Amino acid sequence: MILAIESSCDESALALFDPARGLVRELISSQAAEHEKYGGVVPELASRMHLSALPLLLADFSHELAQAKTIAVTRGPGLLPCLSMGVTLARSLAVARHLPIVGVNHLRAHVHSPFIAVHAQDPAGFAAARAALLPHLAIVVSGGNTLLVKLDEQLRLTVVARTVDDAAGEAFDKGAKLLGLPYPGGALIEKQAAQGDAGKFVFPRGIPEKADLRLSFSGLKTALRYQLEKMSDEQVAAALPDLCAGYQHAIIEQLTSKAGAVLDLGGYKSVGLSGGVANNRTLRTRLTNAALQRGLPMLVAEPKHCGDNAGMIAFAAWADVGLPAGAAATPAASLTVDQV
Ligand code: KG4
Repeated sequence: MILAIESSCDESALALFDPARGLVRELISSQAAEHEKYGGVVPELASRMHLSALPLLLADFSHELAQAKTIAVTRGPGLLPCLSMGVTLARSLAVARHLPIVGVNHLRAHVHSPFIAVHAQDPAGFAAARAALLPHLAIVVSGGNTLLVKLDEQLRLTVVARTVDDAAGEAFDKGAKLLGLPYPGGALIEKQAAQGDAGKFVFPRGIPEKADLRLSFSGLKTALRYQLEKMSDEQVAAALPDLCAGYQHAIIEQLTSKAGAVLDLGGYKSVGLSGGVANNRTLRTRLTNAALQRGLPMLVAEPKHCGDNAGMIAFAAWADVGLPAGAAATPAASLTVDQV
């Protein structure tokens, strides 16, 4: 039984994972409404909010804490003052309860998160079910990262494509800001785009050459800015759904075409999608179609496991790090935060 703590950015979260049953319970406290006032996450404020939220969550998790045999915690990458809150709590619990502690890399946890549902279907058969899906192409799209990663049969990760500038979520959020929408703007762009025509405004697709696997989103944001400079406030308001549809389309087209180019190189048995931007329904559909067209199963993380959450940290502590073999359990006093 693994109790996990996540505090890398603006969500405080706890989860308990039982390898024989799956995720037993998950709790999350989001600070998003507070950071919205500042147009982005304020690290100092976020760490103070973890300081007050984590003990409250833990008070509600006493039954689960009593069952925990291992403590897992996000050790990075993330905001240092925020990571420190979770790591300090994890170390304290491990010392007080004489439990081993496992530091989990947040991005590795995103890579493994689509497999939570595979485990839930048949916990006893998980090892065989996962083996049949490897090598796997993990598409991780969040506010801070855009990575296409190969997960091989030995669970080694190789980054096969990444953004050279902004992350996809950052592109959504910066675009939303230019359009006058509040932070974080991804879901709001999606909502507007659903009423719009993606053909009315055409935005650049980063690095269009298929053979070049790098992604780029910063030019897209600049193109939107130039477009808005040519329009009055009234025109922008009237065309908001079309602007959002065109902008979203450019992000999704780029992700879909680069993912397709990677898959066409061959060697994959499944595709996964995770991270906050994976909540976008059009992106889920487009990437699912791209996988199915190539005869590959598509695993999409459940919405509650797309953004930051402790469920994926607990799961990765077992499914990736290799518990209960225990090889990666660290003496509590030596676990530190890690930005790699
Ligand atoms: O994984 P996450 O919490 O990011 C990091 O902590 O890095 O995801 C947050 C990101 C934000 O950029 C947000 O705008 C984006 O995910 N996002 C979306 C949607 N829902 C969240 N982007 C596009 N469409 C959505 N429906």
